[in-house]
Amino acid sequence: MPLEKFVDPLPIPGILKPVGKLNGVDFYRVAMREFKQKLHRDLPETTVWGYEGTYPGPTFEVRKNVPIKVKWENNLPVNRHLLPVDRTVHGAQPPNPLVRTVVHLHGGNVPDESDGYPEAWFTNDFEQTGPFFTQKIYDYPNAQPATTLWYHDHALGITRLNVYAGLAGFYLIRDDCEDQLNLPKGNFEIPLVIQDRSFNPDGSLFYPRQPDPPPEGFPPGFPDPSIVPEFFGDTILVNGKVWPFLEVEPRKYRFRLLNGSNSRFYRMKLTSGQPFIQIGTDQGFLKKPVVTNEITLGPGERADVVLDFTAFTGQNIILTNDAPTPFPNGNPVDPNTDPVGQLMQFRVNLPLSGPDTSIVPSRLCSLPRLKEEMAGVVRDQTLVESTDEFGRLLLLLEGLRWSDPITDEPELGNIEIWRLINTTPDTHPIHLHLVRFLILDRQPFDVKRFQETDEIVFTGPAEPPDPTERGWKDTVRTNPGEITRIIIRFVSYTGVFPWHCHILEHEDNEMMRPYEVVAEEEE
Ligand code: C2O
Ligand code: CU
Ligand code: CU
Repeated sequence: MPLEKFVDPLPIPGILKPVGKLNGVDFYRVAMREFKQKLHRDLPETTVWGYEGTYPGPTFEVRKNVPIKVKWENNLPVNRHLLPVDRTVHGAQPPNPLVRTVVHLHGGNVPDESDGYPEAWFTNDFEQTGPFFTQKIYDYPNAQPATTLWYHDHALGITRLNVYAGLAGFYLIRDDCEDQLNLPKGNFEIPLVIQDRSFNPDGSLFYPRQPDPPPEGFPPGFPDPSIVPEFFGDTILVNGKVWPFLEVEPRKYRFRLLNGSNSRFYRMKLTSGQPFIQIGTDQGFLKKPVVTNEITLGPGERADVVLDFTAFTGQNIILTNDAPTPFPNGNPVDPNTDPVGQLMQFRVNLPLSGPDTSIVPSRLCSLPRLKEEMAGVVRDQTLVESTDEFGRLLLLLEGLRWSDPITDEPELGNIEIWRLINTTPDTHPIHLHLVRFLILDRQPFDVKRFQETDEIVFTGPAEPPDPTERGWKDTVRTNPGEITRIIIRFVSYTGVFPWHCHILEHEDNEMMRPYEVVAEEEE
């Protein structure tokens, strides 16, 4: 029996406060802990992992160009994971400890020693650290436009489990341009992180041990073959609550939508038929608002939207989802009959607390765009399917593994086009650390011919990105049988950063590569 929907109010994560100053800048301490939290009225309390004792973690509110420092502390159980750790997966092999954490600010333009490199992990009280551990206190320069970022765990080989256990939160950057827009704010601006989970009857989080029994030749004594090709939960949570409702006034609200799920995509609509007025993408505001009836987000992607409930007094409006699993050609999801076809409910039942003076201006804040002609380098990156030594599905970038030598060395300041060539049957949300990019286009090609001869033969015209994704991005959906072109300027820092698929089950199993931004060649 699925849990009853819309019986719990939507929680709104608290705002994090600095503990003091360090070298003149705001200093935050954020501890990761294990604790119990009530995720649904009819579910026993669930043991989760969270930042500062909440799942999702508290929200950072920072200003552009005002740097902060953060000490992330691991107060989690020593060597007892909440979920089944697959010891055959990269980074999770013995003697590495079972519980490792490292925090990444997704979408942050930060130096590599503060980026949360997957092998810069640390254990409880920094007792043990990974081979690329850099420092205990991270620097976030916040030298980027106002937008919705998020922080989450990134430990090599167990990111899917650490994030699933609850290690994620919002990080909002604000700036002067945003202040002048007069968008809905205060109580009328709410972040929404959408995640899917499954539960055992006792309320504990369920994550599969699969296949069961383990494959032929699987190392004896490794009880948890938990690396699955994808994980789809049967229950939807928003801000850590199962199918919540939100009571709203008949006025405009601003919502920061984040897909914080492991593998599930969301293709969202509203049962009222009202549009989303999208004002921002992953990396900041769109040039102009986009009015759309549908928003699609792959894992890691965000959309900044305004919903106007003015004309809907007395109505209950459901945010629905019909994204197939896997996306886009897998099992269909019917918003009327599938539990996961509904995400949350808005009840337009509060009296107006005051006149709604907020607006959605026709021009927002935007940055100059990059043009195709500006790119000096075109890099082809192929997404391929393979199998591991136990015959399990393995998805790779360029056929290489995480530990293979670095093959991509963009020069600092340079502009490149990356052609993401997807030869697999599914959409992969590809994310690059450090940078922001624009989507140029997507074009179908003959996959079979490419696999046999390496030749690219297009089978249709190049399509520009959807209006909902024409702003700055850090995560892009690369569809099967298409070449997705993105244009990127490698800015601010040299160093080694990951790029990867944000389906966490893929990232944890080798669909992630390091790249190095190198200093400009002297002429
Ligand atoms: Cu949100 Cu490298 O990830
Ligand atoms: Cu990231
Ligand atoms: Cu993937």
